[in-house]
Amino acid sequence: MSALLTLESLGVTIDDVEPRDLVEAVSFALAPGERLGIIGESGSGKSVTALAILGLLAHPLQARGSAVLSTGPAGSAGVEVVGASQRRLDRVRGAVVSAVFQEPLASLDPLMRVGKQLAWPLAKHRGLGGDALRRAVLDALADVQLPDPERIARAYIHEISGGQRQRVAIALALAGGPRLLIADEPTTALDVTVQAGVLDLLQREVSERGMSLIFISHDLPVVSRIADRVLVMRHGRHVELAETSQLLRHPVHPYTRTLVEASRELDAFLPASTGRSAVEEDR
Ligand SMILES: Nc1ncnc2c1ncn2[C@@H]1O[C@H](COP(=O)(O)OP(=O)(O)O)[C@@H](O)[C@H]1O
Ligand SMILES: [Mg+2]
Repeated sequence: MSALLTLESLGVTIDDVEPRDLVEAVSFALAPGERLGIIGESGSGKSVTALAILGLLAHPLQARGSAVLSTGPAGSAGVEVVGASQRRLDRVRGAVVSAVFQEPLASLDPLMRVGKQLAWPLAKHRGLGGDALRRAVLDALADVQLPDPERIARAYIHEISGGQRQRVAIALALAGGPRLLIADEPTTALDVTVQAGVLDLLQREVSERGMSLIFISHDLPVVSRIADRVLVMRHGRHVELAETSQLLRHPVHPYTRTLVEASRELDAFLPASTGRSAVEEDR
């Protein structure tokens, strides 16, 4: 099957007094419907890699190499994101690829009611208006399992909880019917009690819509719950890429081994009621 996203030696450079590489030569191909986890300690280059794929890097950061998103039927030429014009990026963002970030406020407007924010991409991508648009807004809010969509649609984001905001951000990311969702630490800023619900929601939306997912986290047990394959990054470099179960059972690189060991040790401290992580189940 032809890939939905193909990275070839994708790198990110900072064009400072002394230019240096923040990310070096990351390569992988993501199949339609595939879920790839990216894991690594803070500062390992996960977020800038995601921003490069989204064409969202701003000066002094600059992408090089190649990131091609497939936009049409298998075999048709895709869009090269690296070096793409703003116009070209506008055509793929939202409709082919979109993103959810750690901080939902990053993608939400504090001065606009939730319903109006959601109406904008629904009108743009689905050509809806009037009653059909109003219904689509409420459906999109219900779809991310927000209670009382009518009330949420009228609310400003300071009037709803952190978990609800992240659900709105997810609805916003899904509004254009993208084929690929990039979720960059989407539960890290949330209370532990609401993290699991948001993860379940992401998982359900991605499988129901047959989307691909790039799920970024510093938390291996969380990544291994959701990903088919895992890319381990460190200091801006590709360390190891393997099927999730393979990575947990037979980590090849010493750094990956450290990550797997550390999450097992952490597991040992968790009460049984928190549920068994994939790492634990794999033993
Ligand atoms: N806008 C920026 N300007 C300068 N350095 C940056 C910028 N964004 C990220 N970096 C640096 O790039 C490296 C990778 O950052 P990032 O991708 O955010 O890491 P991660 O998401 O894995 O925690 C870090 O050393 C970080 O300090
Ligand atoms: Mg990050």
